Order: sequence, then structure tokens, then C-alpha cells
Amino acid sequence: MSVTKGLEGIVAATSSISSIIDGVLTYRGYDIDNLADNASYEEVAYLLWYGKLPNATELANLHQQLSDYAPIPEFVLELLRLTPKDANSMAALRTAVSGLALADSEANDMNEEANIRKAIRLQAQLPTIIAAFARIREGKEPVAPKKNVSVAHNFLYMLTGKEPEAIAIEALDKALVLHADHELNASTFAARVTVATLSDIYSGVTSAIGALKGPLHGGANEAVMAMLEDIGSEDNVDSYIKNQLDNKKKIMGFGHRVYKNGDPRAKHLQRMSKELGKITGNMKWYNMSIQIEEIVTGSKGLKPNVDFYSASVYTSLEIPRDLFTPIFAISRLSGWTAHILEQFTDNRLIRPRAEYVGPTNQHYVAIEKRS
Ligand code: ACO
Repeated sequence: MSVTKGLEGIVAATSSISSIIDGVLTYRGYDIDNLADNASYEEVAYLLWYGKLPNATELANLHQQLSDYAPIPEFVLELLRLTPKDANSMAALRTAVSGLALADSEANDMNEEANIRKAIRLQAQLPTIIAAFARIREGKEPVAPKKNVSVAHNFLYMLTGKEPEAIAIEALDKALVLHADHELNASTFAARVTVATLSDIYSGVTSAIGALKGPLHGGANEAVMAMLEDIGSEDNVDSYIKNQLDNKKKIMGFGHRVYKNGDPRAKHLQRMSKELGKITGNMKWYNMSIQIEEIVTGSKGLKPNVDFYSASVYTSLEIPRDLFTPIFAISRLSGWTAHILEQFTDNRLIRPRAEYVGPTNQHYVAIEKRS
């Protein structure tokens, strides 16, 4: 038996949802650059779930369903009120999604139509949960979702209780498009492993949220902002980053298991970060990010990944730092659930082996004789 640490390079499934070939990311065969420049997040979610871009009627139907499903059950709202105010926001989200399953009479219905309905419901309800948690912990009342607006628009509205600026909606919508799917990343793999036991879609998404939370995966966007705040000003960038690298510390938001010549999503976020910096009149985070990129790429050859510039983008949108990873979850929800649906169409239990390296020939010793 030979072991490949971290399963690097192992092909563990076939999939027709997204591909990364020669550094090019596609969703269902559409280049991410093409989608980022043209598609709305709802069109992308439809594409991931159904394998084709929606026509006008199909898109209108999806908008209607997302609108209808957006309110969360009273039970989940109560759960959020009972959640400690200082709870980790991804832990709160993970718990609330588990709670959604308890409040859904279709939770264990494995029929394909029921599963698609649940995927759309989850897509509609994740933003409501996150915005409600963010408000409740500040002692504010949750804001009821708005009818007939996009996922990005509704999230910003529910978070602040105010009508968001068009540029903010546009920027968040694009960020959601860019994060929606990414082949067999850690959280998607976790979702597929969970449902491959024929467990339900809520269990799959709960596993995925747990995997996304970690700083080596989705949690990196928060870690990037924590680093930028820690550095504090453009003058400190050089010494801070060099010191980190000299001490063999990882710079969050750089490097990738699959992309070695750069993450195609990063340039879109970099552009947005610059534009939003100009609009808000605060170029500090963008300028610091550019400086960091020059040093890290120059000295280590490592390029920024999707998480690096998303940190300054979300900060320009005045989104609290610990909501960055939950926003990633709002977007990746469409990818996770598309993969769960795909897993069910040709399922086999995912059960690899481990090479045993522990002690052998042990013999039981009675407890009173153990030292
Ligand atoms: N900063 C400094 N050095 C790095 C970084 C980094 N961000 N990333 C990789 N390296 C170095 C490692 O120290 C290692 O060097 P060595 O061979 O001298 O020991 C080498 O590059 C290989 O790194 P690994 O961690 O083995 O690469 P792996 O493929 O396992 O990990 C990962 C990829 C987790 C993304 C890694 O690059 C990393 O930790 N980056 C920072 C966290 C991050 O930004 N995660 C988000 C990824 S994108 C996403 O999930 C949405």
C-alpha cells in the first residue's frame, strides 16, 4: 500500500460539474472568466444544479422559489437566539443548518425532486440565517427577507436593514459567482463522503460547512483580513511579511493545492478590491494587499488564491470579518448541493484504506497492573 498524503493528485470521482484543466476553471464547461463577466449568481446556481443556463422563465421561477423559501423556521430563529453571542459564526451556521433539517418534513426524503427543493431551500435560507445571527448577537432584531431580489441584494439588506448600494450588490454577486464551485475541494469532498453513505442532504451540507471553516480552506479569507489588520499600515508590510516568511509561517491567501501558476478567480477579486477602494476612498487594504503580493510572489513564487483579495472586497462592503467565511458558504452551497445530487445519481460508498503504522502484538493488561 502506498500513501499519498493529503490525497494530492488522487482522482477520487468523476464529475461533470466543474473542472480545473491547465489552470482554467470551468463550471459545466463555461470558463469562470466568461461567467464572472456576464452571469448572475442565480444563473450560476441554476447552471450547477441543472447542467444548463436557465432561460428567462426558468430563472424567474428560481428567483420566485428563492424568495418564497427565504424566511427561516421559527425553531431555527429560536436556536439562533439561544446561540452564545460570541460563538464562532461558522459554528453557528453549522448548527443552524442542522436545525433546518429538524424543521423540514422532507429532510429524509431521498427523492431527486425533494433533494432539488431542499438545495434551493438551503440556498434561500443560508443568507437569512447568517444575517439573523449577525444582528441577534448585536442585540438587534433580525430583518425579514425582501421579496423578489437577488441573493446578494437580500443578504446585504437583511444584514443592515438598509437598501444596499447597486455597486455593493454587484460586487457581492460577482464574489458569489466566483466561489460557487471548485471541483473536489475539501468541503465538497466532505459533503460527497457524507452523502455517499446515503445520508441526507442536510448532513452533507453540515459536513461541508465544518470543512470550509478551517483556515487552510474557506477560513483563509478571515485570516487574510486579520493579517492586514495586524500589519496595520503600508509602512509595516515589508518587515511583517519578511519576518513571517523567515519564520516559515504561511501567508494566508497564498498558494493552492491545484493551481501552481495562479488562481484564475483572484484577478477578478483584485480588480473589485481596487474599484471598491476608489469608491469608498480607502485604498489602504488594496495597496497593502498589492505590496504583500509583490513580496510573496517575488520571494516564494506563490500566487494569491481566491481568498486573498476577497478579504479587502468584503471589508470595503463593510461586512464584519467573521462573516467572510459564512459568505463563502452561501456561494459554495450551490456547488456542494450540485455535487450531492451528482453523487446520488451514481452512488458508491467512499471508503478508502489507511496504512497502519501503530504498535503490533499488544496484549491486554488488567487495569490494576498498568503503570
Ligand atoms: N505561505 C507561505 N508558504 C506557503 C504557503 C503560504 N501561503 N502555501 C504553501 N507554502 C509553502 C509550504 O510551506 C511548503 O513549503 P516547503 O515545501 O518548504 O515545506 C510548500 O509551499 C507546499 O505547501 P503545502 O502546504 O504542502 O501545500 P498544500 O498543497 O498542502 O496546501 C494550501 C495548499 C493549504 C492552500 C497552502 O498553500 C496554504 O496553507 N495556503 C494558505 C492558506 C490558504 O490561503 N488557504 C485557502 C486555499 S483556497 C481555498 O480553500 C478556497
